[in-house]
Amino acid sequence: DPALVAKGETVFKKCAACHQVGEGAKNKVGPMLNAVFGHPAGAVEGFGYSKQLKAAAEGGLVWDDATLAEFLAKPRDYIKGTKMSFNGLKKDEEIAAVIAYLKSFAQ
Ligand code: HEM
Repeated sequence: DPALVAKGETVFKKCAACHQVGEGAKNKVGPMLNAVFGHPAGAVEGFGYSKQLKAAAEGGLVWDDATLAEFLAKPRDYIKGTKMSFNGLKKDEEIAAVIAYLKSFAQ
């Protein structure tokens, strides 16, 4: 849904202080997010994850619609001790839009 992706691009402004996505995206405060949707957590090369996120990844966490929605609503409840210092997105439609946006870059 192109309209949802466009809305997600706007929502992503809340993420862009720490994350890049798209062509040429690099790791910053947070990992680049091109190959996140549909992939195991904690797998971006060259990014130093927290031990809590690495433990979740070792436990089999894969980023899909359901896991991203839960994480983005309350990152620090979903992964206790994560170094992602972000309180989360309050509205379900913002979450759906930003996930659609990330999905549009999924490799
Ligand atoms: C991790 C998305 C906002 C900093 C992640 C991951 C995702 C994500 C999917 C896991 C990546 C992976 O497993 O490879 C988002 C989205 C945001 C957002 C969609 C906006 C809605 C932010 C903000 C910051 C931030 C504002 C900085 C203040 C980080 C850091 C990690 C991370 C440091 C690594 C966490 C750890 O190792 O525990 N983010 N993020 N993120 N994000 Fe964000």
